[in-house]
Amino acid sequence: MDLKASIQTKKLPRHIAIIMDGNGRWAKQKGYIRAVGHENGTKSVRQIVESCTELGIENLTLYAFSTENWNRPKLEVKTLMKLLVSSLKKEIKTLQDNNIKLSAIGALDTLPNKVHKELFEVIEKTKNNSRMTLTLALSYGSREEIINVVKEISNKVKNNIISPEKIDESIINEHLYTQNLPDVDLLIRTSGEQRISNFLLWQIAYAELFFTNVLWPDFAKEHLYEAIIEYQKRERRFGKTSEQLS
Ligand code: IPE
Ligand code: IPE
Ligand code: MG
Repeated sequence: MDLKASIQTKKLPRHIAIIMDGNGRWAKQKGYIRAVGHENGTKSVRQIVESCTELGIENLTLYAFSTENWNRPKLEVKTLMKLLVSSLKKEIKTLQDNNIKLSAIGALDTLPNKVHKELFEVIEKTKNNSRMTLTLALSYGSREEIINVVKEISNKVKNNIISPEKIDESIINEHLYTQNLPDVDLLIRTSGEQRISNFLLWQIAYAELFFTNVLWPDFAKEHLYEAIIEYQKRERRFGKTSEQLS
């Protein structure tokens, strides 16, 4: 069956977020070192970015490195950072050719200089692109993001810029790293783990969750189509009754 053809173009998720997990296990299963899994994971990134663009998805957010991932062995962290720099260098052309705007969320100041520099170069070069926004979550932790929001808003209250009674969802949204993005509609996690791992806690409040056993380096276009088709079958009630929706 042609999965792509069964996707309803009028009911596409506006924002897909993916926890790209399972690179290490993929490598281990094949008898490789973990780095090989990460390298192959970048091929899936390319595939998925490409198919999201083709489908007309407006926002794709990829969890590439968490605040907790800094606790991995030094060598693995180094490999991941190197891979980031080389992928950014390699993919700039694809981003330009496909009119994709790159963005990043997370504690970006904590990234090594080389990564930071390359990342902001690509962000700058693609800033006027408009077909899709690709956001990389790098050194990202949702709790840290929320702590920063609380700090910023507290300071504004202290300086009489915001009055406490005025604090509402939109003010919180404006202070999150994701301020320019709509809420997540569809959250995908690969590798069989069914947890959130400190990703976009506020932004997934009403997201549809899709878990698959497929390991990230094996995640191909068909798997994405499957996730979107499943998403389109769900009834998103947002607290209402089914009858109210029809
Ligand atoms: C995801 O794959 C990539 C990152 C977290 C950077 P993992 O490296 O977590 O792979 P597993 O979970 O060990 O298989
Ligand atoms: C989540 O994967 C982070 C990324 C995919 C970047 P992890 O592999 O770090 O998550 P846990 O530790 O298994 O929850
Ligand atoms: Mg993992």
